[in-house]
Amino acid sequence: MSFAFNDENKITITRLTKRYPQPKALILPLLWLAQKQEGFISEEAMQIISELSHMPYMHIYSVTTFYTMFKLEKPKKRVLEVCRTLSCELNGSELIKKYLLDAHSDDYEIIEVECMGACGGAPMCTLDGKYLEKVTPKMLEEILNAN
Ligand code: FES
Repeated sequence: MSFAFNDENKITITRLTKRYPQPKALILPLLWLAQKQEGFISEEAMQIISELSHMPYMHIYSVTTFYTMFKLEKPKKRVLEVCRTLSCELNGSELIKKYLLDAHSDDYEIIEVECMGACGGAPMCTLDGKYLEKVTPKMLEEILNAN
């Protein structure tokens, strides 16, 4: 299997290269683009990101595996992530997680993650990478039934 950024992402990369004159700073944006394009980060994608960022492959691998939001395999099911960090915990993420595990664990991969950087929307979830804010079980039920 080979990986290449698609034309839309190549345009984005050209824009990012101007924004970040230090190629090393491109690592996280490129990892996000690769994951958005393929649904995960393949070894081939890491190799290309290594070349574009002028960083060793092992550095890209270590960054990719450090952050829980980057996937190393294509998800087998649709993915629902639930934030379990303080702001979300205080606003009901445990209730959200229990609801999802009880009602939707057959159809979705449900993953607890650390702060998504959107604490103002607590409790936060993502559905296939799309942010969902101020989530309630009723709201999730409506969204999941519509998808
Ligand atoms: S604590 Fe959940 S998004 Fe920050």
